Amino acid sequence: MTVQAKDIVPGLAGIPAAESKISYIDGQKGILEYRGYAIATLAEESSFEEVSWLLLYGELPTAEELAGFRSRLRENRQLPERMYELVKSLPGAGHPMDALQACTAALGMYDRSRDYDDTEHADQACIRLLAAMPVLVAAFERHRAGKDFVAPDPELDTAACFLWMLTGQKPDELAARVLDVALILHADHTMNASTFAARVVASTEADPYTVCSSALGALTGPLHGGANERVLVMLKQIGGPDQVEAWLEGQIASKSKIMGFGHRVYKVKDPRSVILQALARQLFDKLGTTPIYDTAIELEDKVVAQLGHKGIYPNVDFFSGIVYSKLNIPVDCFTPIFAIARVAGWLSHWREQMKNNRIFRPSQVYVGGHERKYAPIEQR
Ligand code: CMC
Repeated sequence: MTVQAKDIVPGLAGIPAAESKISYIDGQKGILEYRGYAIATLAEESSFEEVSWLLLYGELPTAEELAGFRSRLRENRQLPERMYELVKSLPGAGHPMDALQACTAALGMYDRSRDYDDTEHADQACIRLLAAMPVLVAAFERHRAGKDFVAPDPELDTAACFLWMLTGQKPDELAARVLDVALILHADHTMNASTFAARVVASTEADPYTVCSSALGALTGPLHGGANERVLVMLKQIGGPDQVEAWLEGQIASKSKIMGFGHRVYKVKDPRSVILQALARQLFDKLGTTPIYDTAIELEDKVVAQLGHKGIYPNVDFFSGIVYSKLNIPVDCFTPIFAIARVAGWLSHWREQMKNNRIFRPSQVYVGGHERKYAPIEQR
């Protein structure tokens, strides 16, 4: 049967690409679950490290399993010395996502074998990637600021250790908990663009480092993970709650997207955004509010009033940047933080894809010419 242009589904919207047991969204009800557990429960009760195990292995870990996993994560924060040399060789003016993508690909070159059918070896690769991400993001930030690297602290979990390696200061308990919850919220999200990219690359039987570096590339774009960085820039540009109305009118008139709003699946407020907003409030109660938050609240009201009928509500990226900026994290590190969390999802999808793999090879509708006459170069 010939496929026709009318059969194309732009953006593959609504087309199932795989069966998965990892996460679930009900976009009308605003439900997100990881392995059947409600995201709000995990945000309240769990930790990013426990959630990573849950995503990877399908069940909550026992105390012993979690302790073993944690200790292996800590051991694997020690990267080969030449990885630090690589970070130092990168241009400080470059984007941290590009640095992270390059370093993730390079990390794979230190893996002793490509035999990922060996379960222990596959587990080790997952741990290595999970452990390396925060180290690499922090190392690049230190390098471009002209500061020495800060060695990982084995006493700290992923979120707290990342803040420590970034700043060289022991993080405040609330700051570490808030970042840990943000990592939980970003750890997986069904068949989003970067996860689909991960699964496509996994389907070629590429190694997990290549899978993650490909997914990192997909995450950088402003329609996906790159939106969180743009939200903060946008809120600063708006200037204050009083300027929201006029600014929004201009955006709507020029049919420009408002960053941090809209979602392919959610047609109500993203449940992750509800949790992040509450975290932002906790931070402000402790550390003082920021005028950007007032602008954000005014923008949410106005956007929902004008575009809510189209299902345009805040997504996860709307409040995450506000939270990260309150933690004094540089704006262009927001998307790398998304990646620190999402690597847990990508690796879980890699494992799932490999259990029942068939290479992705969609079709196309060819709309170009045929049987064209080749003209020698001097005749063109
Ligand atoms: N601002 C204004 N209008 C919007 C927005 C927005 N942010 N998002 C969607 N729309 C409108 C769009 O103009 C279109 O209207 P119409 O039917 O009149 O032409 C309609 O809603 C459908 O939009 P779409 O772009 O076809 O929807 P999509 O499902 O292809 O795209 C999206 C989803 C997330 C890419 C899109 O909503 C968007 O670009 N949002 C802004 C960027 C953003 O915040 N991205 C983060 C997404 S959540 C986290 C993540 O995945 O990383």
